[in-house]
Amino acid sequence: MTDQNPQTSGAPSLDARLQKVSLPAATELLTEFWSQQVVGEANGTLLKIAKGIGETRWHLHDDQDETFLVLSGRLTVQLRDRNVDLEPGDLFVVPTGVEHCPIAEEETRFLILGTSVTSNAAGGKPEWSQNGGLPAAR
Ligand code: NI
Repeated sequence: MTDQNPQTSGAPSLDARLQKVSLPAATELLTEFWSQQVVGEANGTLLKIAKGIGETRWHLHDDQDETFLVLSGRLTVQLRDRNVDLEPGDLFVVPTGVEHCPIAEEETRFLILGTSVTSNAAGGKPEWSQNGGLPAAR
């Protein structure tokens, strides 16, 4: 979280409390794929934005449901018994304890709602995405 004052710097707001956040503008600031940036909190639920491309790792969250709202691009949430294809405007909840593996054939940007920022290990973030890396060509 930056300490810049968005009201004076002109930078997009990254804190929705009592000020609007432009999600398209805020997602432009994301530097790493499959990393979460908190943009707000309400009633104990964190509002987080992320961008994705390529494949994450299979994982589950044993402490929270994970809600995806796709903003742009396409996101496929692979489940053990089926794939769920999400496009802009689509909402999908992965319940606590359900294994999943998000994959994006094209760059996607999405909002995640959950009770905490999922750790890298619990969130399935792939190693190549550290420091702004891209997936290997397939
Ligand atoms: Ni997850």
